[in-house]
Amino acid sequence: MTLSTTGVDGYPAARTVLLSLFDGARVHFHTDSRSRKAVELGVDPRATVTVLQLEAARQVVVTGDVAPVTAAEALAAYRARSRYLQLLAWLNDVGTAQLDPGERRARWAAFDAAHPAPLDPPPTWRGYAITPVRVVLWQGDDDGPSTRVAYELDRKSGEWTSERWAG
Ligand SMILES: Cc1cc2nc3c(=O)[nH]c(=O)nc-3n(C[C@H](O)[C@H](O)[C@H](O)COP(=O)(O)O)c2cc1C
Repeated sequence: MTLSTTGVDGYPAARTVLLSLFDGARVHFHTDSRSRKAVELGVDPRATVTVLQLEAARQVVVTGDVAPVTAAEALAAYRARSRYLQLLAWLNDVGTAQLDPGERRARWAAFDAAHPAPLDPPPTWRGYAITPVRVVLWQGDDDGPSTRVAYELDRKSGEWTSERWAG
């Protein structure tokens, strides 16, 4: 999914992240505490995620308030990731990014060999969950206009309302 935050310079910032989990109420994603997005969320803990299902002609856009997940939730998400992604969480740092491709691969191979499974998450592993305040569903139609329905949370009453949007 595309995760959009507000950059510290005020411009929108967007990148792809894995949708780790939808727990029925919140959308979870995971990243590194030193990343730009983590810094941005520290300043402004609000975000939008866009999930595109091109083959189904569907788009879901969720906007909401972001909070860290519990330590247990973050650990469970790390354990559920592939060995490759677990290693990536350890080795995708600024120092490694500056190395030559050969040195990067050598560092990866050495770390992999020295750390048999199960691997614990690095101290920089962070999980966040978005509690929605707005959900917009888009459905394409081969033979007619697309359909868009926006659900909005009224923070005072706690009630959700919906309306059809064009587009
Ligand atoms: C398919 C795909 C999945 C990705 N999943 C994640 C992820 O789950 N977490 C993450 O931190 N970065 C993920 N990335 C890398 C991010 O897009 C991004 O480059 C990185 O997190 C740094 O972003 P930032 O500098 O805006 O913080 C993924 C990239 C791609 C293309």
